[in-house]
Amino acid sequence: MKNFSVVILAAGAGTRMRSSLPKVMHNLSGKPLIKWIIDSVSSLKPDNIVVVLGYGADKVEEYLSEINVKNLKIVYQKEQLGSAHAVMQTEKVLKNYSGNILVLSSDVPLINARTLSTLIKNNDKTTSSLTVLAAEVANPFGYGRIVKKDGFLERIVEEKDANISEKRINLINSGIYCFDKNLWKALSKVKPNNSKKEYYITDTVAILKSMGKSASLTVIKDENEVKGINNRLELSQAEALLKDRKVKRLFESGVSIIDADKVYISYDAKIGQDTVIYPGVFIDTNVVVGKGCVLKGSSYIIDARIDDGSIISYSYINRAIIGKNVKIGPFSHIRPGSVLKDNVKVGNFSETKKAVIAKNSKVNHLSYIGDAEVGEDVNIGAGTITCNYDGINKHKTVIGSNSFVGSNVNFIAPVKVGNNALIAAGSTVTRDVPAGKLAIARARQELKRRIIK
Ligand code: UD1
Ligand code: CA
Repeated sequence: MKNFSVVILAAGAGTRMRSSLPKVMHNLSGKPLIKWIIDSVSSLKPDNIVVVLGYGADKVEEYLSEINVKNLKIVYQKEQLGSAHAVMQTEKVLKNYSGNILVLSSDVPLINARTLSTLIKNNDKTTSSLTVLAAEVANPFGYGRIVKKDGFLERIVEEKDANISEKRINLINSGIYCFDKNLWKALSKVKPNNSKKEYYITDTVAILKSMGKSASLTVIKDENEVKGINNRLELSQAEALLKDRKVKRLFESGVSIIDADKVYISYDAKIGQDTVIYPGVFIDTNVVVGKGCVLKGSSYIIDARIDDGSIISYSYINRAIIGKNVKIGPFSHIRPGSVLKDNVKVGNFSETKKAVIAKNSKVNHLSYIGDAEVGEDVNIGAGTITCNYDGINKHKTVIGSNSFVGSNVNFIAPVKVGNNALIAAGSTVTRDVPAGKLAIARARQELKRRIIK
C-alpha cells in the first residue's frame, strides 16, 4: 500500500444528537466516537492525521491532546458550510502531499482498518482519482445514494435532493473516500447547489468525471461497518452492535454469559476462560477479569483487575486490584485504591478505599476500611470502622498480620496495631497496640440494682 494521509471530518454540530457535547465526543462502548476512528486509522500508520474541528472544538481538542495521537494535526472550520468546505480547510496542510488522502467522517466509528486498507489499495490499483466506500443496506434512509450509469459510479445524491426513484436505491455512500491529489482541484469547483445550500464532498464524484478523471466504488458486504451515527437512537444501535460482537467473541473464547441481553460488557474488557457472568452485570471500561471467576447480579465494575477464581456478587468495584479466589459481596463497595490480595473476603455492606488487605484476611460484615494497611490472616469483626478523617486530613490505620479485631471497633487514625494482637469488641482504639497484646478500650461494664417503681 502506498503512503497515505487521513482527513477526519469532525466540525459538524451534530444537531440531531440534541446535545451540548460535540457529537464526536459522545461515548460509544467506553470511548468517544472520534477515538474509534483514530484507533482504526492509526493502526494503518498514516503519514498525517488531520482532524477538522469546528463546533465545540475546544472540548475535542482538549481530549485529543490528552490521548496523544501520532502525526496528528488540527485545522479549524469556523463556519460549518458543508463536508467539502471542511476538507478544503486541510489544503494548507496537505497541499504538497503526493500520497492518497483518505477522508472519513467522525461519525462512522465501526469501520474496520482492513476495509480502509482495501479502499486505499483499490484506489492505487485503478486509474481512479477517487474511490468511494459504499454498502448495500436494508434501509438507506438518510444516506447519500450511489447513482450508477452503465454499471459505473455516476454521482452521489443526498436524501434531501433525491427523487423518488433515487430514494429507492439501496447502495449508499459510507462517507469514506480515498482521493488522489486531484482532490484540491475538484474541491475548488464544488458549489452549494442543493437543498441545504452546503458544499458537499459528494459532489466531487461528478466534478472529477467532468474533469476527465474517473471515480469508482468499493462495495462492502457488512452494512454495520459503515453505520453513521447522527442521533441517539443510532448511537444506541451502534452500542448494541458492538456488544453483540463482543459477546460472540467471549462465547468463542470460553466465557459463559447466562443471558447476553441483560449484561453490558465494554468492548475493551478482557475476560478469562470459564468465567461465568450472570444477568445484571455491568462491566465498564478498562476491566480485566481472570479465569474461572463468577460475576453475579447487578455488579458494576470499572477500571479494575480481578484475578482467577474470584467471586463478585451484587457489588460496586471502581479502580481496584482484586487477587485470586477473592470473595466480594453481596453488597460491597470497593473504592479507588483498594488492593485485595488472594483469598480475601469482603462481605455484606462493607466498604474499602485506599486499603491494601493482605491474603486470607476477612472484612465480612458492615465495615469501613479506608486509608489502611491490613496484614495477612486478619479477621475484622462486624461493624469495624477506620476513623480516617479528622475533618481536615486523612490518616492511616495499620493492622498487623494474624491480628483479630472484635466487632464494632473504631480505629482513630493514625494508629498502628502490631502482629498477633487482639482488639476487644467495642473498643475505640486511639493509641498504638504493640504486637501480641490484647487491647480493651471501652467503658467497663457495671452492674447496679434495678429499681422498679
Ligand atoms: C454524509 C454524506 C452522505 C453519506 C453519509 C454517511 C455529505 C454531503 N453526505 O451525510 O452522502 O451517506 O455522510 O454517513 O457529505 N462536517 C464538517 N463540517 C461541515 C459539515 C459536516 O466537518 O460543515 C462533518 C461532520 O462532523 C460529519 C461529516 O462531516 O463528521 C458528515 O456530515 P453529516 O452532517 O453527518 O453528513 P450526513 O448527513 O450524515
Ligand atoms: Ca453523518
